[in-house]
Amino acid sequence: MKFTTASFKSAKQKGNKITMLTAYDYSTACLEDEAGVDAILVGDSLGMVMLGYENTLSVTMEDMIHHSAAVARGAKNAFVVTDMPFMSYQTSVYDAVKNAGRLIKEGYADAVKLEGGVKFAEHIRAIVDASIPVMGHIGMTPQSVNAFGGFKVQGKSIADAKQVIADAKAVQEAGAFAVVIECVPALLAKYISNELTIPVIGIGAGAGCDGQVLVYQDMLGMYSDFTPKFAKKFEDVGTSMKNGFKYYFEEVKSGRFPAAEHTFKIDDEVMEKITEE
Ligand code: KIV
Repeated sequence: MKFTTASFKSAKQKGNKITMLTAYDYSTACLEDEAGVDAILVGDSLGMVMLGYENTLSVTMEDMIHHSAAVARGAKNAFVVTDMPFMSYQTSVYDAVKNAGRLIKEGYADAVKLEGGVKFAEHIRAIVDASIPVMGHIGMTPQSVNAFGGFKVQGKSIADAKQVIADAKAVQEAGAFAVVIECVPALLAKYISNELTIPVIGIGAGAGCDGQVLVYQDMLGMYSDFTPKFAKKFEDVGTSMKNGFKYYFEEVKSGRFPAAEHTFKIDDEVMEKITEE
């Protein structure tokens, strides 16, 4: 059955943990969907893990639409949330609604996600008023990497913790159906999860959240440029892929691939006629 915004609500009420993973293409979305993952995030992390940028700031609306549509084709049951890229909503409430609409109409997303709390509450409200579900994102928001001076844990001082709490409440009051909280101390994230009525999905925020999200390349050992402390490696797919590439290299060089079973046949008669001429 398709996971919906109503499923997010009922999971929170029943205390069922919500599972979310990133995906950026059709075949990965199919695998995650078949594995039973509740929601797929087409994160702007694609700028780093798919496109090789050092942060998410260069990702465009066209990038997000392209990858979102591919994921949506593979996600039969999983709920698809697509990130609004840097400068697609910060510039004005009008831009926020217009670009959220494009991610739904052209990217076939079920919902959009944007970073920021109190400062972007008006933008969230306007998108929700246009009947587009919004997931918030607070704490360490990667689009503010330059303002933060790096990818740093947020909410450790009294003032910073109060700001994260205010952001969480602002996102909920603006009408978001869920919120991602990234890189904050576990006890703070647990407190916020208990305070909010909407589900809080943690990443680097401990076990007290209502759900978890990870970048799939991190949890499968496929991306080594930057490995955050919270990224548990559930499988070492990176090593398996590298081994597969090496076996291919060796078999092509030695002539063992392709073998007879990978080869198409032609009647001897036809070959004879061709070589006679
Ligand atoms: O872009 C992304 O993958 C994200 C997650 C880190 C939550 O926003």
